[in-house]
Amino acid sequence: MKSYFFSLLVTTLSYTLSFAQAPPANYDESRVLPYTLPDPLISRQGKKINTVKEWERKQRPYILSLFTENVYGKISGKPAGLHFKITETDTTVLDGKAVRKQVTIYFSAGDEAPSMDVLLYLPKAGHPVTVFAGLNFNGNHAIVADKAIKPSKYLKKANPQMTDREAIDAARGSAASRWPIEEIIGQGYGIATAHYYDLEPDHKEGWKEGVRTTMKEALHIATGEWSAIGAWSWGLSRIQDYLESDKDIDAKSTILIGHSRLGKTALWAGANDRRFAMVISNNSGEGGAALSRRNFGETIRNINTSFPHWFIAQYKSYNDHPEKLPVDQHSLLSLIAPRPLYVASAEEDRWADPRGEFLSAKNAAPVYALYKLKGLNVNEMPAVNHPVGETIRYHIRTGKHDVTLYDWQQYLAFARQYIKNR
Ligand code: GCU
Repeated sequence: MKSYFFSLLVTTLSYTLSFAQAPPANYDESRVLPYTLPDPLISRQGKKINTVKEWERKQRPYILSLFTENVYGKISGKPAGLHFKITETDTTVLDGKAVRKQVTIYFSAGDEAPSMDVLLYLPKAGHPVTVFAGLNFNGNHAIVADKAIKPSKYLKKANPQMTDREAIDAARGSAASRWPIEEIIGQGYGIATAHYYDLEPDHKEGWKEGVRTTMKEALHIATGEWSAIGAWSWGLSRIQDYLESDKDIDAKSTILIGHSRLGKTALWAGANDRRFAMVISNNSGEGGAALSRRNFGETIRNINTSFPHWFIAQYKSYNDHPEKLPVDQHSLLSLIAPRPLYVASAEEDRWADPRGEFLSAKNAAPVYALYKLKGLNVNEMPAVNHPVGETIRYHIRTGKHDVTLYDWQQYLAFARQYIKNR
């Protein structure tokens, strides 16, 4: 009897502990506990990696496998039967300065296949052009207020009484400030974007409707073997498949961009798919650019509690033990090498731990050094609105968690500097 009550007590206690709320986020730098980062240049056998050859042949695949097994899960390649349908080409948009294309990417043969709608704006001159590719939060119709843009089939409604039409009208152009198309086109670049819900709706049950279910047989991955971030990343690679088929586009120079959860996604997509020439992580925070071992802002426990579908089940075993993870996020950034990488923070976005994003970018530099490239070659965090670094660049801008014109202007300048002669 005694032992029964004892085991009941233990069960109840451990149950309570495992569901306990995460402690309040720490925002006090003096309370950040000491930590040791795993060295991405130490092999499984404890050997130091000194050459690009060793990195590319053994160490890089090893680090990638650690992220696959512990954080984001598997990812697949291009499925058989993938095909595109161009549903619109309008050469009169932006006062005739740009061409808009709308393309549906079908993930398998036939018109009934699961699909994703991509919106492209390309400058008229300077073909083939470099494109910034990124997923968006609220549908392509939220990027530009133009009724010709096909609305997403997933509509955000402010209240249940709202009709679809009202929801579409309310969303049209609402994300325009995050996609400053005039500026991008004016500088000679294009954009390609799709609503991330087309790949998997962003909630706990979203996998039931998304590609983790609809493409399960074709991709040979069980739903639990990958994650929502994996599914979204996979979609970015399918956008690249389209870009490679479009002769107006220089697909060897595609720049991946993502904000916040979609910044985490851009990093994971860039790590897996080396066709992307440059990667931009905007305010990606925990599970993105920020170091998990720093107890500042969001923690692994926080993110797994609010968004259990973003990562695989194994990631939850690190909820209270980031030090047990065989990687930290600087190792993810290292997987982008030797390609140019931009990590950006915002001063008021403390939840994303700007210093943790900076330190992660800084600690990715040794892998860039193997390629004789200078990464983030500064020791101290820069002042606000002062971009620093070389092949790895970093800024912290004033303001909130967002993508602003200031951010884009830095990305465009970085692209001009590093992508021009590809
Ligand atoms: C939440 C989440 C972050 C994420 C952000 C976003 O704040 O905790 O990890 O980056 O949403 O995607 O906007």
